[in-house]
Amino acid sequence: MTGARVAVIGGGVIGLSIAWRAAAAGHRVELFDPADGSAAAQVAGGMLAPLSEARPGEEAALDFGAASLERWPGFIADLGTDPTSARGALTVALDGADLTDRHKAAAWVAERGHDIRPLTRREVRDLEPTLGPSIRGGVLAPTEGSVDNRQLLAALRAAAAAAGVVHTRTAVTETATLPHDRVVIAAGWRSAALLPERLAAMLYPAKGEILRVRTRPGSAVGPRHVIRAAVHGRPAYLVPRADGYVVGATQYEHGDDRAVTVAGVRDLLQDAELVFPAIGDYELFESAAGLRPMSRDDLPLIGTLDEDGYTGTIVACGHGRNGVLLAPLTADAVLAALDGHVLTEAAAALPERVK
Ligand code: GLY
Repeated sequence: MTGARVAVIGGGVIGLSIAWRAAAAGHRVELFDPADGSAAAQVAGGMLAPLSEARPGEEAALDFGAASLERWPGFIADLGTDPTSARGALTVALDGADLTDRHKAAAWVAERGHDIRPLTRREVRDLEPTLGPSIRGGVLAPTEGSVDNRQLLAALRAAAAAAGVVHTRTAVTETATLPHDRVVIAAGWRSAALLPERLAAMLYPAKGEILRVRTRPGSAVGPRHVIRAAVHGRPAYLVPRADGYVVGATQYEHGDDRAVTVAGVRDLLQDAELVFPAIGDYELFESAAGLRPMSRDDLPLIGTLDEDGYTGTIVACGHGRNGVLLAPLTADAVLAALDGHVLTEAAAALPERVK
């Protein structure tokens, strides 16, 4: 049914993508967010890396992420602005055990038909000569990459406005009294306050700190791929931007805490320097923290609810570390839900799996 009055609650990357796509499909969309929301996406690295991050055995998460990665070129073409900041993701290992694990995980992903390639130390150096000497080898995923999160958010806001989305800057504290035909709850981890208890219990925030660094006159030109590593078991990444990198990211489960800590900054800088030693010459111009909307089973919650008081309400939250990656598939799944269908590729995220 097109032409429905649709309320979208949440103006982050997920809410904006849904609002834009729904308005472009002919719905009358009102987006509720008291600010320009998007706290998590505002500090995101913007990696599109479902193959590099896949863990053997977690097939549903791989299939879900890969289905969204395939949608990115079309999503960008429709957006009319290309926020791509890197093409290709290179995961590097700093010790032999990590390299063995990375190569095994890559073999598992490749067996499922995806383009991911094991690399020797020499191949990594040929590809990215400025990486540190302690790197033992790696894995290349040529179809992955990254987008500039802030360019993306600005482009989504512009596309939503152009498609007719009305942005109402108030917070929604309960959905039952909204006059719209359909309500979409897409407010990140704060969605918990609007959801039935069984779904609210699935969500929790995980703080992530990032740094932003940029080149100075004379500083070395660094890697052009997304670079991912594990340093002392901590995930570390450098995500290219036009003038430097987003360096990420820590992860803590402390509730609603967005302070940037001294230890967090120290770890991020130490780990980044091990991977790319010349980063010490760059200018550090921003540190920030956001709250990832985590889901307890590592899959988002996307689909229509049927319990009393929520009939016809659609949920789209719990995207964890991958809100940017999963935005195109999520928007398509919500459009299908608005039409009364289930998008097959997003069926693993249906909320009825939670009892
Ligand atoms: N998407 C990477 C992170 O959440 O750190």
